[in-house]
Amino acid sequence: MHTMRLLLQLLLVIELLWGRSILPALVQCKLLFTGLCKPLSESDMCSGIVENYVAAMVLSAAGDALGYRNRSWEFCSDGSKIHAELASLGGIENIDVSDWIVSDDTVMHIATAEALVEAGKNIEPSNLYPLLAKKYKECMDDMVGRAPGGTCIHSAAMLNPETPDGWKIPFHKSAGGCGAAMRAMCIGLRFPRPEQLNDLIRISVESGRMTHHHPTGYLGSVVAALFTSYARNRKSPHEWGKELLDLLPLVKDYVIEAGRDVSQNLDAWSYFENQWKSYLQLRGILDGKSQPKFPEKYGVKERDEFYSSVSYSGWGGSSGHDAPMIAYNAILASGDNWTELSHRAFFHGGDSDSTAAIAGAWFGSMYGFKGVPKANYKKLEYRDRLENLGKELYHLSV
Ligand SMILES: *[C@@H]1O[C@H](CO)[C@@H](O)[C@H](O)[C@H]1NC(C)=O
Ligand SMILES: *[C@@H]1O[C@H](CO)[C@@H](O)[C@H](O)[C@H]1NC(C)=O
Ligand SMILES: [Mg+2]
Repeated sequence: MHTMRLLLQLLLVIELLWGRSILPALVQCKLLFTGLCKPLSESDMCSGIVENYVAAMVLSAAGDALGYRNRSWEFCSDGSKIHAELASLGGIENIDVSDWIVSDDTVMHIATAEALVEAGKNIEPSNLYPLLAKKYKECMDDMVGRAPGGTCIHSAAMLNPETPDGWKIPFHKSAGGCGAAMRAMCIGLRFPRPEQLNDLIRISVESGRMTHHHPTGYLGSVVAALFTSYARNRKSPHEWGKELLDLLPLVKDYVIEAGRDVSQNLDAWSYFENQWKSYLQLRGILDGKSQPKFPEKYGVKERDEFYSSVSYSGWGGSSGHDAPMIAYNAILASGDNWTELSHRAFFHGGDSDSTAAIAGAWFGSMYGFKGVPKANYKKLEYRDRLENLGKELYHLSV
């Protein structure tokens, strides 16, 4: 006791001489030494990043289940009606997902993650790509009641994981749907570091075009993966859009170098890029520095109109460019508020389960389970599988 008091007095004297408090620094050291906050690697120190990986997988699926609501909300084109029903259920805080099944988005996201985990450190095309093709094909057996997209069903049937090039399908002029984007978030968890950018690009492109061989489709996969890596690395969201635009030439180089149906891919390239450029311009974040600007009146109805206006054919979020765009639009405005995020990204008149699956993954990557009502994920279908995949992806990423 005596020594302790002496030590404290000594500390006070040092503090007085030094002119600022040294206690916070000492507390931090103590946490480190006692192993309460075990450093995993320099950048991951104290960030609880395993939880972010788990949350990214689980909250993506929770968003999917909530936005889907056993089919009735995915296919409701009136956001106001969904919000009224949401209110009558007592708001999102009150929703227990125990009998709200996950949809095709989560089943296919799990397929991507399982292929990445089974491939382990061997990410050579000859090892990883047939595994992805196998998982995409197999997961089609688990689609009853989950509303899978036509392009995914059709393309998965064409995949042939047993033969060396059986993961390649030809260019398809109407494969611009969001089916590639909705299942790519875990690629960003697996390859989060700047030196892994080339792997992130080639794997998100190739896994994407196993079903969606059209730039609008597979570039959606690239954004979903890329922004997950940014979220995981705590890059501020207003910077993400510009970085995407800066990076698109690299993706194009990869597609040219890969040499498959190059001229058709290049001919169809500009739509995605133009849509993103005009979106970023509208929000005032094309420079990657400014904070986003939103309309003053921007409620459920205005958002529905906006989502529809950025879409390919009126159904906001159903394409590769606008599913991640609507998710991003919601992330930019919601900060760490899950309820706010859900209002903007899960509950609207567009393809709501896909925008929700993407936004949920980004939220979890940045904020973990912070402020998320337990009922929204505790009894979620496939929660164990999703948690384990999150942990495995974390271990592979370090
Ligand atoms: C949702 O669908 C699943 C499986 O089809 C069913 O078991 C469950 O009861 C449904 N939930 C609701 C709320 O209708
Ligand atoms: C989160 O968003 C909801 C919905 O807009 C709002 O009611 C709530 O006050 C927000 N919470 C915080 C902590 O800002
Ligand atoms: Mg779905």
